[in-house]
Amino acid sequence: MNWSCLVCLVLLSLVWHCPVIYSSPMTRTPDTGSQIEVDCPSSCVFPPFLNSPSPTNDSEDQVELKMTSRELNPKFYEASRAGQAIQHYINTVHGSPFRLYTVTQVHKARAEDMGESGMKYILEFSVKDIVGESSEGQCSAEVLYPRGETQRPPQVQCSCDGLPRLNTTDKEEAFYQQYSVNTNAVTASSIPDSYGHMEPDMVHFWHLGRLAASFIMLNESNENTLYNMAQVSKIKQLMSEDDQLNFEYEVLLHDMISQEIIRWKLLITWSPARSVKVVESELLPRCRCN
Ligand SMILES: *[C@@H]1O[C@H](CO)[C@@H](O)[C@H](O)[C@H]1NC(C)=O
Ligand SMILES: *[C@@H]1O[C@H](CO)[C@@H](O)[C@H](O)[C@H]1NC(C)=O
Ligand SMILES: *[C@@H]1O[C@H](CO)[C@@H](O)[C@H](O)[C@H]1NC(C)=O
Repeated sequence: MNWSCLVCLVLLSLVWHCPVIYSSPMTRTPDTGSQIEVDCPSSCVFPPFLNSPSPTNDSEDQVELKMTSRELNPKFYEASRAGQAIQHYINTVHGSPFRLYTVTQVHKARAEDMGESGMKYILEFSVKDIVGESSEGQCSAEVLYPRGETQRPPQVQCSCDGLPRLNTTDKEEAFYQQYSVNTNAVTASSIPDSYGHMEPDMVHFWHLGRLAASFIMLNESNENTLYNMAQVSKIKQLMSEDDQLNFEYEVLLHDMISQEIIRWKLLITWSPARSVKVVESELLPRCRCN
């Protein structure tokens, strides 16, 4: 399938799903303005280059749902969904604008029904840093999706046999120095643009946005979501304070299950010493794609 075709499909699915947005019981309704539609800050085209795991369904697995523990096919959707939550977790702990981890392959997966505590997924998988193009490391992790009416983030415990970690100290320091002088505060939009293109000097801002979005995607994940970062729609650099770079980001997140695109506004800080922190986050009204 070529890119334009993929883009069409995504656009079609966006249009298709517009009326049902926020109607699913598991989707958290934003506190304000959930029904308001505004024009999207960009064309809303889902960047074509994201190599998201394609959720394949395993209907035979469904038959065994009643069992308290079951092996999962590591290639199937439930395993990749847990893998994605783990990936967000690893990035919140170890990521940087120069280091972003991706789960390259799930080798083994098992689900355990923990009764009232929730559903636990136990995975063995490979992970690599896609920015530094590191070698692969082997990890195992447990993801517990809590049960209950209200959205609570999955609890992740992860241990790695040598998580690949390239030394990015110099690059981070140079990035910090370049942008800590506020005479040319950065503003940008649509990273990447609808052709999947971004300017070279925006690449690390894209990584920073993905990193910040990992906190949100992890926080918002449940057994009915599979979030991927789609686009940074806006960046505005604010005054540096307290040896931290400050940014206001607007990000578009794509949920592969509902095919919804949701927008968040994030106030983030970053420095080499203290890494990224999401200081404020706000779910924005969904937007209409032009
Ligand atoms: C997988 O199949 C089940 C039951 O047939 C269905 O409820 C579920 O939505 C499907 N998931 C995906 C990702 O297609
Ligand atoms: C990373 O590189 C910097 C400078 O090149 C060096 O000072 C530092 O000790 C290195 N850190 C690690 C963990 O190797
Ligand atoms: C995660 O969600 C909780 C509850 O909804 C919220 O209080 C917290 O600020 C969120 N954290 C982030 C980083 O969004």
